[in-house]
Amino acid sequence: MELKHQHIRLRALRQEDADQIAQLINNHKILDNLRDSIPFPYLKSDALKFIELCGRLDPLRNFAIEYDGKFVGTIGLEQETDVYRLSGHLGYWLGEPYWGKGIASAAVDRMVEYGFHSLELIRIHACVYSFNKASQRVLEKNGFKLEGIFEKAVVKNNNVYDEYHYAKVRN
Ligand SMILES: CC(C)(COP(=O)(O)OP(=O)(O)OC[C@H]1O[C@@H](n2cnc3c(N)ncnc32)[C@H](O)[C@@H]1OP(=O)(O)O)[C@@H](O)C(=O)NCCC(=O)NCCS
Repeated sequence: MELKHQHIRLRALRQEDADQIAQLINNHKILDNLRDSIPFPYLKSDALKFIELCGRLDPLRNFAIEYDGKFVGTIGLEQETDVYRLSGHLGYWLGEPYWGKGIASAAVDRMVEYGFHSLELIRIHACVYSFNKASQRVLEKNGFKLEGIFEKAVVKNNNVYDEYHYAKVRN
């Protein structure tokens, strides 16, 4: 599966991405916005495990984001279960050198299309910590609606933050 958007492409993760993942994600400016289940330091072996797990899913739900032919980050849609099975939880990160070029916004656009049309989801949601204004903006630019603010929902680096819950539904 290949998704194109100008110079931005989503493609399956490959074992060869492991070095670049480990190199880019070991950055507190990225990890401060993600869950604590992502280890620090993040080793190449962690990346290889992640890539292997992603490769087992059929259809794929996690992709490499490529910009001008280079790996720059990842994006994924975790499908919910039980009565929530037609919903997907969206997550993404980009290496810091690639911020501010509209890459995440384009990647989210492509992933939403994939989620609604290939995975046949009817709802895609994303949870963003209160201080992460760039990610909130990415979702708003993609037509996600702020459904609510979960007060004091997040403990990150020993501080408590509100969490912004966004969603987009298929028309
Ligand atoms: C969040 C992240 C994915 C954004 O990637 P990106 O490619 O730089 O995003 P884009 O360039 O597509 O869009 C960013 C938007 O946020 C805006 N923005 C950036 N910093 C901002 C800030 N501090 N306050 C308000 N808006 C801000 C930009 O101006 C841009 O909006 P615009 O197009 O209207 O000018 C990237 O910073 C990242 O990987 N961060 C760490 C991991 C993370 O936060 N993942 C998401 C977890 S929910």
